[in-house]
Amino acid sequence: MYVLVVRRSLTNIGGPVRSWGAPEPARALAECLDVKPVEKLPFTHGFHPYPARMHPETARRVIERFAPSGRILDPFVGSGTTAVEAIRAGRPFIGTDVSRVATEIAWARTRVWTPEDCRRIEREGRRIAREARTLKPETLPPWAEAERAWYSLHTIEEIVALKALIETVENEDVRRFLTVALSSLLIKLSKQESDSITAPARGFRPWPVGAARGMFAERCSEATKMLLLLSSDLYKRKIQAPDPEFRVADARTVSLEPTSEDLVFTSPPYPGTYDYTRQHRLRFAIIGADAAFTERHEIGARREFDPTRYAEDLRTCLRRMLPARLVILIGDGAEIRSDRLLRDLIAPLGARLTAGASQERIDRSFDRRGQRRHEHLLLVETVRPEVIHD
Ligand SMILES: C[S@@+](CC[C@H](N)C(=O)[O-])C[C@H]1O[C@@H](n2cnc3c(N)ncnc32)[C@H](O)[C@@H]1O
Repeated sequence: MYVLVVRRSLTNIGGPVRSWGAPEPARALAECLDVKPVEKLPFTHGFHPYPARMHPETARRVIERFAPSGRILDPFVGSGTTAVEAIRAGRPFIGTDVSRVATEIAWARTRVWTPEDCRRIEREGRRIAREARTLKPETLPPWAEAERAWYSLHTIEEIVALKALIETVENEDVRRFLTVALSSLLIKLSKQESDSITAPARGFRPWPVGAARGMFAERCSEATKMLLLLSSDLYKRKIQAPDPEFRVADARTVSLEPTSEDLVFTSPPYPGTYDYTRQHRLRFAIIGADAAFTERHEIGARREFDPTRYAEDLRTCLRRMLPARLVILIGDGAEIRSDRLLRDLIAPLGARLTAGASQERIDRSFDRRGQRRHEHLLLVETVRPEVIHD
């Protein structure tokens, strides 16, 4: 039995929240940001680790307070926290991300299935884990050979066997979901330090033979419980949300056609802080995603951070989000105060920062020393719509 419940990427230690701007939204933003750290996430929120995930309670509160009607759009959807809370609120949702790893996770986390379909994940997961015991690959396929150094040999062989068996599942939805379940385990099984830290782990201890198979079966059982919880919650509250839409796209060029009825609720990459392509490098092959595309289009990455370029990229993205109302969660990084940067970028676009709330955070998941930075929840509203597309 493998216990996999600890999700460290949300254990930020939050300090006091300060808010400013128009009193009513400022108070609401402060309430949305002031949430408790959690170890175990509700519904499907804990299905897959993801660096810089949004706190689900922040997502729930923002949608409740700032999105009384219209669509919810998230051009940096990541693992889909806003998407899960949008469907829990019964709202139409479109999410995009530059990484198909992200959109597949978000897709998996937002499945509202019948109890019978949810239970298929557990059943198929256990069957595949059982059959993988007798499937030892003679040679590693090229993708696994390329990643061989990141695993013990028996572990990568088990991953290859699991992937091969998942690919034989006929039902496309089940196959996609099981693929994401396997992806959720990769970093834990590998020599990479953690989901956020891309260096090889100091003091790596090989997993025992059978660990990957056992974890996979366990993860599929957990996932079934999560899916059942999500669908029964919606059923009990008689909520029927349209199926959310996910696309792989660059937020600088994506065409979501936002209107003033929509809420764009998103969390862009923090300046020079994360490196999503590298953090997920072991997942691209499993998911069948194009790492080169993601690497080329990722903005704000730590690996090659340039503040001028970041500001320009963010401005291009913001322009495409207007004239919708925007609620943006963003953290400081690379010595940039993101709230001030956003305020300066937004003004020439005919919009203004109406209110904001900020909280000092110590993020131990990213750096063992504990990085101090502020996280901001900002409300942007269009004041001069004619300027936006000038
Ligand atoms: C802060 S994370 C979003 C986390 C998300 N809110 C969650 O709860 O999982 C930022 C996301 O922006 C994505 N990203 C980076 N550059 C992008 C671009 N040019 N266009 C679209 N998405 C991009 C990254 O892949 C990452 O998933």
